[in-house]
Amino acid sequence: GAVTAGCSPRRRSPPASASAAARAGLTFPKGFAWGASTSAYQVEGGATADGRGPSVWDVFSHTSGKTRDGGTGDVAADHYHRSYEDLDLMRDLGLKSYRFSISWPRVLPTGRGTVNAKGLDFYHRLVDGLLARGIIPVITLFHWDTPQALQESGGWENRDCAKWFADYASVVCYSLGDKVQTWLTLNEPKTVVEVGYTAGVHAPGVRDRRVANVAGHHLLLGHGLAVQAFRATGRKGRIGAALNLSPTYPADDSDAARRQTILADGEENRRWLDPVLLGRYPDDWLATQSPDAPVRAAIHDGDLAVIGSKSDLLGVQYYNPAYITATGGRVQKHPTTQASWQEVYPQGLYDLLTRIKRDYGDIPLTITENGMPSVHATDDEDRITLLRDHLTAAHQAIREGVRLEGYHVWSLLDNFEWAEGYTQRWGIVHVDYATQQRTRKASANWYQQVIARNGI
Ligand code: NOJ
Repeated sequence: GAVTAGCSPRRRSPPASASAAARAGLTFPKGFAWGASTSAYQVEGGATADGRGPSVWDVFSHTSGKTRDGGTGDVAADHYHRSYEDLDLMRDLGLKSYRFSISWPRVLPTGRGTVNAKGLDFYHRLVDGLLARGIIPVITLFHWDTPQALQESGGWENRDCAKWFADYASVVCYSLGDKVQTWLTLNEPKTVVEVGYTAGVHAPGVRDRRVANVAGHHLLLGHGLAVQAFRATGRKGRIGAALNLSPTYPADDSDAARRQTILADGEENRRWLDPVLLGRYPDDWLATQSPDAPVRAAIHDGDLAVIGSKSDLLGVQYYNPAYITATGGRVQKHPTTQASWQEVYPQGLYDLLTRIKRDYGDIPLTITENGMPSVHATDDEDRITLLRDHLTAAHQAIREGVRLEGYHVWSLLDNFEWAEGYTQRWGIVHVDYATQQRTRKASANWYQQVIARNGI
């Protein structure tokens, strides 16, 4: 091969290597942010440590019958007390990026008012530990743990909650903003609305679609106000939301299924993407809300301009597609994982990423979650296959010009899977909850190689 200027002959590849590399796999762009994700309530434990206040999830998980086997996040993976061990684990894996969330009631035990310095200090130590190991911190401000004191004032049903959230965001972003460059406001508001406020299967356990849509609007307003609060701190860095999105497909080739699929896309995707990235609700989604729906009164003049405040990036969480029948129902067409809602369709990630670029422009994207629960303690070949297939789809999207900057596997550690308690293990690292011992699964070893090679 020809030696090009500036390229050391010692590092020149033999001619056969290009095709060997092609056979061997796919290389990601230089600087691709290989990462892993967790969230505060799911891994931290330390539920009453150092002045932390309760969240809706403490109350919910301690209510009999709400979680599998009565699991709670009281101890979880005890990350609050084992963060240094976990930091070394991340360094050993070679992680470039770590996405975690801040527990709002750890920083503000009643949701507003006086800051609990010890709570905030934990996150300073964590961030310092990440930076010392060359790992980029990516912070989610809200991963579902609304302070219980605010719930008692109405929680997200109350418009003021958006303001309380922005005040909290301002405290945290200012305090950590000299070290942290990447912020995410809300994690999966759709899940809060659908599972927390409609099905009532997550905290706060409300079962009312009309209330759910009001809470959904206030969550979005909270996102917009938090973006503005972040800008007002004067800190440098980027902020955006982390949305779980599902590409929708007609279940058959009837016109009715096609029509229903468009509506379902409104509910699954555009209802979140349009306000955040375009500053408007989709007309077809709004039309599904009856004239007396309380969400209509909840939307005040100017709200959508706030919600549409410029985002610097979008966190994309992809787990499954949605197939829509002629009557608007859902069917599954692919095998599922231990999580019955998760049918596996890696190509859906390609469809999703290219669709976002097509319809919403060139906003930088990072995959903030993707993964699966495996029943295998450490021999999780199924997870390796799933991750590899999704990364292949992501690579295809990058090749076609999608600005995908990173990928965060859900999750770094086995953890508290909400209503499923400890019955689903989503980590690439196994946690023995009796001893809190961490053991790398096959997928962790595989991921370490992926990161080292910058590709699959
Ligand atoms: C999405 C959520 O953000 C996370 O908390 C959850 O554990 C995973 N999906 C898996 O269900």
